[in-house]
Amino acid sequence: MTETNISTKGSDWGYAPAPESADHFKLNEQYGLFIGGKFVPAGSGKRFATINPANEKALAQIADAGEKDVDKAVKAARTAYEKVWRKMSGRERGKYLYRIARIIQERARELAVVESMDGGKPIRESRDVDIPLAAAHFFYHAGWADKLGYAFPGKSASPIGVAGQIIPWNFPLLMVAWKVAPALACGNTVVLKPAETTPLTALLFAEICQEAGLPDGVFNCITGAGSTGAALVKHPGLDKVAFTGSTDVGKAIQKSLAGRSTKLTLELGGKAANIIFEDAAIDQAVEGIINGIFFNQGHVCCAGSRLLVQESVEQVVVEKLKARMEHLIVGDPLDKNTDIGAINSKAQCERIRDYLKVGQDEGAELFQTKCPVPEKGYWIRPSFFTKVAQSHRIVQEEIFGPVLAIQSFRTLDEALEKANNTPYGLSGGVWTDKGAKIFKVTRGIKAGVIWANTFNKFDPSSPFGGYKESGYGREGGRHGLRPYVELS
Ligand code: NAI
Ligand code: MG
Repeated sequence: MTETNISTKGSDWGYAPAPESADHFKLNEQYGLFIGGKFVPAGSGKRFATINPANEKALAQIADAGEKDVDKAVKAARTAYEKVWRKMSGRERGKYLYRIARIIQERARELAVVESMDGGKPIRESRDVDIPLAAAHFFYHAGWADKLGYAFPGKSASPIGVAGQIIPWNFPLLMVAWKVAPALACGNTVVLKPAETTPLTALLFAEICQEAGLPDGVFNCITGAGSTGAALVKHPGLDKVAFTGSTDVGKAIQKSLAGRSTKLTLELGGKAANIIFEDAAIDQAVEGIINGIFFNQGHVCCAGSRLLVQESVEQVVVEKLKARMEHLIVGDPLDKNTDIGAINSKAQCERIRDYLKVGQDEGAELFQTKCPVPEKGYWIRPSFFTKVAQSHRIVQEEIFGPVLAIQSFRTLDEALEKANNTPYGLSGGVWTDKGAKIFKVTRGIKAGVIWANTFNKFDPSSPFGGYKESGYGREGGRHGLRPYVELS
């Protein structure tokens, strides 16, 4: 670690490196597919490497599943559904979910380190956010397993069948939990496809299912790239597909399922407005802007990627934001001081760099902090654009990186108009001292989640999901159970 990536305005004090160790567990050299309770190689024998984006070194070789493997996994899930899981009482199912939740807690340190190594996120986030929330999600849904009658009063809830679930790389284990916990709690079985750049914690989760004694075939995990995901969606043996990822792939999945009775939920991109009024507590709002766009390198579908700031405080907010950003530490994801880790993949890093260029070509003004970044690996310095117009691509499109677009407004109506001028509708934020304004804004923005005087807060009991091109269906809370049950 270099000591130079620490901004020490006004003092000579910096942070000494505080790396989390990675010697308390050992990754396998290679991982198979998890089908019917066992790890098996891909039929083709093909493998691909998952790398650490902070140093570009391979961490493990991963099996690359083809159509035949997908078929085996769906059949294993079907058998487990018919023979075991759908017949089991909710109370018994709940016991397995509680066990999984507890093992996630027991293996939390290992899971956090692997998550940071495989995907590049700071250890502080994987340790304090991703892994605890994944465990919480299982605890929460374990509680529902024998109480579905209370979730849907007056109705009888039965499972749907086999769910094919495809997840992205920004919150790998947490997305496993969001997808798998409600499906299993409601009596469905699962074939999961993790993202190709971050398969490791999903594979460790498969080990956890073995450790918990989960009946064979209830959870299956097939690894591979987009073609594996497409093969899963195409398989006629699925009763339900759940997808989180890009809007383009979401649309392709919707097309591929057209004309079939397979149920679908989509959690897609976002371009949230984070609105700062002149009466807000400015220093807190600045922290909220930082959290909103730089959390997880900005690889967050609900990121506050558009800042709308009231004109009277624009200058002070931008100055304070610059000063605060200069203190952000970019670097080794395993260092406990790191604020911003590595960009998840080379491809994503290039996509973000393209947007940095597009923004400047469109005439916006780019600000980037001066912090040094390591030579190896994929890095983007914390960035924002000013002088942006509503029509700019950097305002309209999801960048999915540490890049903020700043616009100003004069009146509340103008703020709402700008906030809603987007194809997306996943989240939003409002910062003000006035309760009445909070209500006007939260009612006025068409988005699934809106935070007031905070940002990026998650809880398993709170439903999450979008409007418009951000997708449909909810995850979390009672609403999140609904896509996994048939009601009669
Ligand atoms: P992606 O949508 O291609 O990847 C998400 C998952 O879908 C991965 O598991 C991938 O293997 C799978 N997938 C890809 N093509 C598929 C297909 N045809 N059928 C079924 N599954 C398929 O996202 P990508 O390319 O990694 O990222 C591109 C952009 O997407 C990002 O810059 C970001 O804007 C957005 N994105 C949004 C996410 C969100 O949480 N809303 C998550 C990941 C990406
Ligand atoms: Mg990786």
